[in-house]
Parts: sequence; structure tokens; C-alpha cells
Amino acid sequence: MPKIQAPKGTRDFYPADMAWHRHLLDAWRRVSVRNGFEEVDGPIFETLELYKVKSGEGIVSELFSFRRTGGDTDFAIRPEFTPTLARMVADKANALPKPVKWFATPNFCRAERPQRGRLREFWQWNVDLLGLDTPAADAEVIFTCVDLLAELGMDATQVRVKVSHRDVVKQVLLTLGVPEEKLPGAFVLLDKRDKLTPAEFTKQAGGLGLDEHRVERFEEVCRRKYRSGDLSHLARSLGMTEPPEDLALLDEQLRAFGISDWCEYDLGIVRGLAYYTGTVFEVHEATGVERAVAGGGRYDQLIELFGGPAMPAVGFGMGDVVLTNVLADKGLVPDDVAPRPDAFVFAASDEAAAGLPAVVSQLRRAGLHARMSYKTTRNVGKLLKDATGCGARFAVILGDDVQVKNLETGEQKAVALDGLAGAVTD
Ligand code: HAM
Repeated sequence: MPKIQAPKGTRDFYPADMAWHRHLLDAWRRVSVRNGFEEVDGPIFETLELYKVKSGEGIVSELFSFRRTGGDTDFAIRPEFTPTLARMVADKANALPKPVKWFATPNFCRAERPQRGRLREFWQWNVDLLGLDTPAADAEVIFTCVDLLAELGMDATQVRVKVSHRDVVKQVLLTLGVPEEKLPGAFVLLDKRDKLTPAEFTKQAGGLGLDEHRVERFEEVCRRKYRSGDLSHLARSLGMTEPPEDLALLDEQLRAFGISDWCEYDLGIVRGLAYYTGTVFEVHEATGVERAVAGGGRYDQLIELFGGPAMPAVGFGMGDVVLTNVLADKGLVPDDVAPRPDAFVFAASDEAAAGLPAVVSQLRRAGLHARMSYKTTRNVGKLLKDATGCGARFAVILGDDVQVKNLETGEQKAVALDGLAGAVTD
């Protein structure tokens, strides 16, 4: 029988891959908790309907959906978390303490064409804050995102948080003559701008009422990046004396959280998902070579749309695939993330070998990471090599007595069995 391959766009996590994966998941969790978010999760599949409410055509066309033989309900494997979160919040909205601050780190499936930064199964860190409509809430969520990037060793020169606001972009488009009813289409087109040739973009923009001159005018506004901390240039580009209030207030909060240097304004960012309503943002590697590391924004109407009360919301998702690519490019993927054994235990004589299980279990019961040799050789030199090879801190050598060797310093001493755990934690 030919070998059966894993499905296209999925990954197998062998031990070294899994150690890195765990390292990321732990960092996501650690940063979430210290920023005051509580962990949640939902089912791995939902009814197909859930994604048809407001995620937008882009995501719906990439669903892995199915119906059980003989069943009458269509399901889909989750492609993102926001609809599940909105359903969960809408369901218990009155009972939940406000603001709701939730995080999740699930896996998702999208039937995308696999390519660099895009797989068919990926993990995504979701951070969402509901019940507050203030720019301070937007800034706190962006701060949490930046906190993670810094936690993994990045700085403000390596990644940019590109912030925009759908109402401001909407205003620009309306001023340029895009009719109100064509705005959703305009947002979708803007979101996929980088994937189209300029000619293709101009052609599709024409369908929205933007002639070449207006596309050029729009491009002028979008091409420029405006530093956080000084919005006067942005105001001038828009032909205004003062910057839009929404952005000015957000900027004040980004400064208050001390993350202005990570952020810039980029009105070319609109986000493809249909539920965003106000502030939107994406995190990109500074030179722009990779896909977005993270993306999010305000979705103030979604909870109500799912049958809950009116409840403002803001959040983002960060994928593991692009994040890993960016960290690897920057030399920030350490090779020592796998758990290191505290002790590697072996016997130097056949008589002592019978005592191996008891010694190993004593160490493990004391909470230590203890491994043992399964080999029948009693060659101490070779067994010490095995101990070093697996990264152990100490070798425990069972012979006429019990010897503990510190594999970093080379120091070796005899210890009493009841003091063994203490000797390998020194
Ligand atoms: P999204 O922009 O679709 O937003 O995804 C966010 C991030 O997930 C992307 O920037 C990327 O890093 C990662 N990602 C998305 N699709 C793939 C893929 N096929 N392969 C690898 N990575 C991928 C959302 O999903 C929103 N629900 C985020 C959100 C949460 N908004 C508010 N709260």
C-alpha cells in the first residue's frame, strides 16, 4: 500500500516542533494572564450557519464544511474564534462580569491554498475585550499584543502595529464618490489590494465608482504611513485641519500605554472580515516581507447580531505560522525550548541495575524530570555521553554507591540515597 500522506497544509508536530509549539502557547497564555484575560474555548466545529451571519464571503468560501450521512445539519470546522466567542457571550451576557476579558489559543482550519504564512490548519491566539467602547480598551488590547511581541524578543524596529479606522476610511471613500451601498465591496477590495496587480485593482475599483484619478488619490492617502504621536500629517493628507477625533483619542491612549513607538497609522488597512466597525489594526514585520502576524479591531455590533444585548467589543487574532516565520527570520527561535532533564540515571554494574526503577521513581515523585538508560552496557564513559546528549543537568551513577555528576561543571560526589533529590536540584 502506498504511504498515506498527511492532508495538504497541515503539520505533524514531532518532539522538537511540539517543544516550540508549547513554548508559543505558554507565552500566549502567560502574557494573556498578566494582562488580566481569562482563558476560554469552544467546540472545534459549529453549525455552518454561525459563519454565515457576519464573517464575510472570504471566510465562508474557505470553510471545511460537512454533513453527517443521513443528517440534516450542515457543520463547519472552525475557521476563526470570533463567531464562537460572540455566540458564547450573547448566550450568557447578563451573567458575565463586565468587562469580559477572554483569551483562547485554539486551532482553526481554512481551505486556503497552502503557501508561506498560510496553512490549512493553524493555531491562533485570540484576545478579546467586551463591554467597553473606549479607546482605552482598544489600546489595552493592542498593548497585550505588543507585550507578547516583546516577550518573544522583538522590538519596535522589527514589527509595526498598523492602525486604521473603518469610519475614517469610509469617509475618504465617500468623499471620493464611492456610493454608501458599495462600501462593503470597497473594504473587501482594499483588503486584497496587495494580491492584485495595479491594473486589476484599478479595474475592480472602477466597478465601485472610482475612476483612475480617484484610485490614484486614494492610493496617495493609503500609501503614506503616519507616526503615532503626531497626527498632523495625517490630517493634512485628508484635507482636514484636525485629525479625525477617533484616531486622536486612540493615539492619546496608545501613548498612555507607552506603545506609540510600535504603532503607526496606515489607512490602507481595512481588514477583510465583515464584522469590524471602528478601529482596525494589523501587525506586520517591519520590511513587509511576511503576511500579517496578527489582525483585529472593533466589532461593536456582533454580540447583538447573535441575539445578545448591545455590547461593544474589540480584539485580535495572532497566528502561530507567521509569528514563527518572523521570529525565525530574526534569529529569535532558541533551540533550547525542549524540557531539559534534571537527571539521567544509569547503572555502572549489573548488580546495581536492579535498583534503577526505584531511584528513578524516587526522583520523579520528588517532581524532578528524571530519565534512565535502557542500555545493557555498563561503560560509564558511553553512558555519560548519553546523559550529556539528552541535555541532562546531572548524571546519577548507580554502582557500589550512588554518585552524582554535575554535567556542566564536571564535579562528582557520592550522595546518600535519601539526599539524592536535593543533590540534583543544587
Ligand atoms: P484574521 O485576520 O483572519 O482574523 O486572522 C488573524 C491572524 O491569524 C492572521 O494575521 C494570521 O497570522 C493568522 N491566520 C489566518 N489565516 C491563516 C492561515 N490560513 N494560516 C496561517 N495563519 C493564518 C481573525 O481570524 C479574527 N477572528 C481575529 C479577531 C479576534 N478579531 C477580533 N477578535
